[in-house]
Amino acid sequence: MPRPVLIDTDAGVDDALALMLAFRSPELSVKAVTTVAGNVGVRHCTRNVLAILNLLQVPERPEVAEGSYKPMRRRLFSAPEVHGKDGLGDVRASLTKVAGRDLFHHDAVDTIIRASQKYGKKLTIIAIGPLTNLALALAENPRAMREAGRIVSMGGAFRVPGNTGPVAEFNYFVDPEAAHTLLNSGLPITIIPLDVTEQLAVLRRELEYRAHARPSLVAKTVLRFTRRYMLYHLKTEGFNGGYLHDPLAVAVAIDPSFVETRRAHVDVECSGTFTRGMTVADFRRRPGRKENSVKVALKVDRERFFRLFHGRLWR
Ligand code: RIB
Ligand code: CA
Repeated sequence: MPRPVLIDTDAGVDDALALMLAFRSPELSVKAVTTVAGNVGVRHCTRNVLAILNLLQVPERPEVAEGSYKPMRRRLFSAPEVHGKDGLGDVRASLTKVAGRDLFHHDAVDTIIRASQKYGKKLTIIAIGPLTNLALALAENPRAMREAGRIVSMGGAFRVPGNTGPVAEFNYFVDPEAAHTLLNSGLPITIIPLDVTEQLAVLRRELEYRAHARPSLVAKTVLRFTRRYMLYHLKTEGFNGGYLHDPLAVAVAIDPSFVETRRAHVDVECSGTFTRGMTVADFRRRPGRKENSVKVALKVDRERFFRLFHGRLWR
């Protein structure tokens, strides 16, 4: 029986790959996709989600709901230099128009609350952007949010440098207050940090090889919208490719055994001058240590992940 999931996304390039993996995985049933400002403005995120749904010709279209256009208490900090101004490598406008209904509404928070109430412990919320929508849903209806099964959140950096300044990961940097609220809520959260996602660099030549081996509109489109994301990594990290941050969160929703986790008390710096968004984990085993219900992924089964990713993406 497929597991019901809700995906909350700041639909950038790796988010788009994560959506494709989710919709091509029979283990999951995507009931709703909610958008949140992050990589780019929220309307771009919504349009990117609709473009991916149309590209995939998803038979059972999920509810699409647009959410927060800015973090809870801060101005939006976005990443057009990574994902393009439109969030999809600046190619969305030129993608082959695939017939589809561009239906969405504007109440992501209500969608998250209703999904938690409807699917309860069966529901996995896959959060692959800043946690603004989830924090607002928790504030509005904490009882409903406690009905959800688990939250898999791509975010944080524990034993590796940040990717947004020296110590912070982007999603938790953009809205540290939202991350702090969720991590201290008692909700069952698994964090998928840079510690594991930066072990999953896919190289451009591999994408090109696989896309040419199984040519299709989807394959051609993947090559197009990942180009800019990969050139950014070439410039900043020295390799022509890209980290598959968000697809790993989807893989963990499919099967938690893709990663090894450790339980810890984790919090997020909200007032540091140099440390905004930094995740601080107390892994010490001390009697009486504060503990929230957070698991942190610190190891990933790379080979198994790439078998899943490529096996599903290029079907
Ligand atoms: O730090 C990487 C995360 O920030 C990914 O989710 C990426 O899409 C951006 O949202
Ligand atoms: Ca994202």
